[in-house]
Amino acid sequence: LSPLGLTILAFPSNQFGKQEPGQKHEILPALKYVRPGNGFVPNFMLFEKGDVNGQNEQPVFAFLKSACPPVGDSFGSVPGRLFWDPLKLNDIKWNFEKFLVGPDGKPVMRWHPTAQVSQVRAFLTNYLRNLSQRKQ
Ligand SMILES: *[C@@H]1O[C@H](CO)[C@@H](O)[C@H](O)[C@H]1NC(C)=O
Repeated sequence: LSPLGLTILAFPSNQFGKQEPGQKHEILPALKYVRPGNGFVPNFMLFEKGDVNGQNEQPVFAFLKSACPPVGDSFGSVPGRLFWDPLKLNDIKWNFEKFLVGPDGKPVMRWHPTAQVSQVRAFLTNYLRNLSQRKQ
């Protein structure tokens, strides 16, 4: 999607059900051969594994969360599967929560982990169209 000026950044975390237990050199091979497998190579920027919530959260997540309202008022029913402390209302709820940051560095939108791809795509399409119209 880079022709449209969109860059996707992905941040692996092991804080949700310990679903990313691999060492940093294991994450790309796991994507390629295990899940999703079939030779999958990300066409987005994949960062090192790190915390997105709690005392050791990465500064980028402290920033994003402070700039956007929470995506819900509950973590759902996930007993024993949230690996950070303290829990906060505005925390990332689970893997695949998404943020959109504008070209000016300001967060624009935040999506719940279960947001439909079609819903995210529709928003992005309108957003990018609006941006390109503003430039002309
Ligand atoms: C795009 O622009 C229209 C008209 O100003 C506005 O109503 C809409 O919310 C914008 N959509 C996005 C995703 O920015």
